[in-house]
Amino acid sequence: MEASEEETTIMSLGPQEHYPLPDGYAFRTGVPDAATYCRLRKISGLTPRTLCAVQAGLPHTLYGVHVVHGSDIVGMGRMIGDGALFIHVVDIAVDPAHQGHGIGSAIVDAIMRHICSTIPAEIYVSLMANGEAWRLYERFGFSNVFPDARGMAIWIDRP
Ligand SMILES: CC(C)(COP(=O)(O)OP(=O)(O)OC[C@H]1O[C@@H](n2cnc3c(N)ncnc32)[C@H](O)[C@@H]1OP(=O)(O)O)[C@@H](O)C(=O)NCCC(=O)NCCS
Repeated sequence: MEASEEETTIMSLGPQEHYPLPDGYAFRTGVPDAATYCRLRKISGLTPRTLCAVQAGLPHTLYGVHVVHGSDIVGMGRMIGDGALFIHVVDIAVDPAHQGHGIGSAIVDAIMRHICSTIPAEIYVSLMANGEAWRLYERFGFSNVFPDARGMAIWIDRP
């Protein structure tokens, strides 16, 4: 592991502020079905993904949650990785009609608590923060890795 990784993102495993869901909302453990996943990504403005990729990828989720409001699924979040050395937090998304009420914070809170309660030792938790979402992640101890490191990514299409 690069020194820069260790310096910039080792987080405290101590007690953190709790962000519960607002009244009227409830957590369900696990990822939503593929069609709902695609819908939530689309309406929240995240890059649409093909059903084929979604169906292949979702079952490999390490831990996921989604949020229900009545019979509607209005938010989701999940983590991928090996569960001990590296975890990547992805797909934090809330239906725009329900944003701004603390649901996104509650989703990240649930994921961070799960991480803290299950990891065997130190772990590197990363994510890519879109737009202003970094403000949300800062609440949970995430910080910009630049200039110690640069987040890099590539889209690859099946030939
Ligand atoms: C990011 C997202 C999940 C936040 O959900 P939410 O339910 O509105 O989140 P909360 O109400 O718990 O908190 C929002 C906080 O995050 C910050 N934030 C996150 N995204 C923001 C945005 N686009 N504009 C302004 N502030 C934003 C704000 O600081 C806000 O803090 P406040 O409560 O003091 O105003 C939601 O805006 C969303 O789905 N965005 C589109 C998808 C996306 O970008 N996901 C993140 C991928 S990295």
